[in-house]
Parts: sequence; structure tokens; C-alpha cells
Amino acid sequence: MKKINLVILFSGNGSNMENLIEYFNHNEFLSEDAKEKVGIQISCAVTNNPNAYGISRCEALGVNCEILPHKEFDSREKFDEALLTLLKKYNPDAVILAGFMRILSPVFTSVIKSINIHPSLLPKYKGANAIKETYESGDEFGGVSVHWVSDILDGGEIILQDYIPKIAGESLEAFEDRIHKLEHNLYPTAILKALNLTRVIK
Ligand code: GRF
Repeated sequence: MKKINLVILFSGNGSNMENLIEYFNHNEFLSEDAKEKVGIQISCAVTNNPNAYGISRCEALGVNCEILPHKEFDSREKFDEALLTLLKKYNPDAVILAGFMRILSPVFTSVIKSINIHPSLLPKYKGANAIKETYESGDEFGGVSVHWVSDILDGGEIILQDYIPKIAGESLEAFEDRIHKLEHNLYPTAILKALNLTRVIK
């Protein structure tokens, strides 16, 4: 069976990473022309944060986790070069960013095909406070975007978006929970779309 090899990058909690690993491990996929079964394998997860909770999720899932602390590098470019060297060992078909809280420089983005998830309806609310900014806005909807990574922060081509209505009187925490649920639903589907695969429904 043909195998697609992915590496996931994360920085903290790692709930999207865990959700993707479970989804890819427990489903079967078909090529776009439905002629060939395709497996998706996560050969490695990489974090820039030695204290990330996601590291213990990897241990529990039996997924190899590499720790590359960004603090050991004196520039963004040097970290990105080290990340490229590390990724060469795994030779991924694509790299998945799942809560990876580092801006990647062209050193990385010009060489590696990667996909990111962002908790807003881009181009609205780029950056690290998207959920709070959406919550505090007068917008009727919040949402999630999955996009190709470019050297513009949260600016690459959109693969898929989904949205939820705001609920009057809802707390920020409850809104945040609904956004994360939406992320967990959307990200696997969007990655399949980007890879031109469909899931076999059993
Ligand atoms: C998610 O909201 C993701 O969209 C953003 O960072 C958060 C990561 O959460 N980029 P988790 O680590 O996957 O739980």
C-alpha cells in the first residue's frame, strides 16, 4: 500500500496533534481516482518547547517525538536550518503545523510544503490572540481556517474553513471550547483535501 509520510510540529498542549494521529491511525484512505488505498503515517512529531504537554501525548500514542528548543539558536533562520536538517531524517511528504507557535522564515517555507490551522476566519484576526479577538468583536460568527504556509504569517492560500455562530452571553472559555471542537473536526478533512485523498467510510 502506498504510504504518505507526515511530520507534525507543535509547541504546547498538542490536542490537534493527538486528534490527527488518532484519525490517521484509525482510518483508511483512497487516492483521488479511488484506484489505490493509501496509508498515512506520522513518522515523527517535533516540538520547539521542552515543556510542551504534547510530549507526553506522543509517549502515550507511541509516536516518536523530537525536541528542538528554539532558545538554543540565536536567530530564527538558524533554528529553521536546524529544523530542516532534522526533517531530512524523516523525509516527509508534507509537514503539519498543529499549534506550532513559531514564525517560520523563508529558509523553511521556500523548501518545505506545510499546512497550518488557525482559529479564526482568515484573513480576520491573524496572530496569537485570534479566539479572544473574535470573541470580543461584533462579528456574528467565529471559525477556523486551514491554509498552506507561506512566509506571510497566517497568510497562505486557504484549503478549508468552517464556522460557528456566536451565542449571546456565552463565556470566552465556552466559545474557545467550541472553536477547538471545530478544529478537531476540520483539520483531518482539510489535510485529506490538500493531499487529494478521501476517507473510506466503513
Ligand atoms: C489551536 O487553537 C491552533 O489553531 C492554534 O494553536 C492552538 C493549538 O492547540 N494555532 P493544541 O496545542 O492543538 O491543543
